[in-house]
Amino acid sequence: MTDTDRLTLPELAAMASQGRRIAMVTAYDATSARLADTAGLDIVLVGDSAGTTMLGYESTLPVSMDEMLLLTRSVTRAVGRAFVVADMPFGAYQPGEDEALRNAIRFVKDAGADAVKLEGAGRTLTRISAILDAGIPVMGHVGLTPQSASLAGSYKARGRTAADARRIFDEALALERTGCFAVVLEAIPAQVAAHITEALKIPTIGIGAGAWCDGQVLVWHDLLGLTSGHVARFVKRYADLNTTILDALRLYVSEVKGAAFPDDSHTYGIPDEELARFEAQIAGTLGRKSTNPFSKS
Ligand code: KIV
Repeated sequence: MTDTDRLTLPELAAMASQGRRIAMVTAYDATSARLADTAGLDIVLVGDSAGTTMLGYESTLPVSMDEMLLLTRSVTRAVGRAFVVADMPFGAYQPGEDEALRNAIRFVKDAGADAVKLEGAGRTLTRISAILDAGIPVMGHVGLTPQSASLAGSYKARGRTAADARRIFDEALALERTGCFAVVLEAIPAQVAAHITEALKIPTIGIGAGAWCDGQVLVWHDLLGLTSGHVARFVKRYADLNTTILDALRLYVSEVKGAAFPDDSHTYGIPDEELARFEAQIAGTLGRKSTNPFSKS
């Protein structure tokens, strides 16, 4: 597959305008990207949620450009059809337009992404304009924006008062006016998301924003049940891989310790005459009490 096999912006826009929902998921490595692509996901987001899901940070804030580039490269190498969006991490666009443009170009040029995603409106709009001027498509993101969650004081749902809903509505419109090709609506009431979707021509992609968006996105680890402990209300787990993987790993541990693995079916052989010559060469080099079932000494 080459880049030219990937979905294009006009194709994504046509999906939304024809009422065909857009399915998007995060992925951070070649294996998950290949699986997402094979399963028919339209957009793969290399999210900065990698900070918590992949890199073991407490939040998305410490994620660096270098880390995101590494993850994005592994995703773009594996994807055939899906459109790949790279999330610009905290610090990659906040300092100003030049920095934002430089980093967006790295995602496209060095890592093969089709587009970048930035959180928020306000000052982010000038960074988005600079990136768009260079011909790089931008996905917006409003509602709960984790990179500025500590300023807001929580990771709770947004837009639950008329004033906050209006703010998010206006931000989404501003992102469309600025030229974003789509906007993620995170953790806002379904009714507010429905009004935003109706007001915009570009597709809305919801995560915790109800059923009336043009598409949906979930985090890979949430969707597949790869996490343990609390999950957000909007997460639907389509599998319980945490349990599946733990069961498999525990079985492996017990089979290794009980010498049940590997058995003959997982073992290579050597012709008898080659083995005899080899054993003649190493005769007398025993370094410890033999546990070798083939040993003649
Ligand atoms: O980083 C991420 O995974 C995201 C999605 C939640 C949209 O931004």
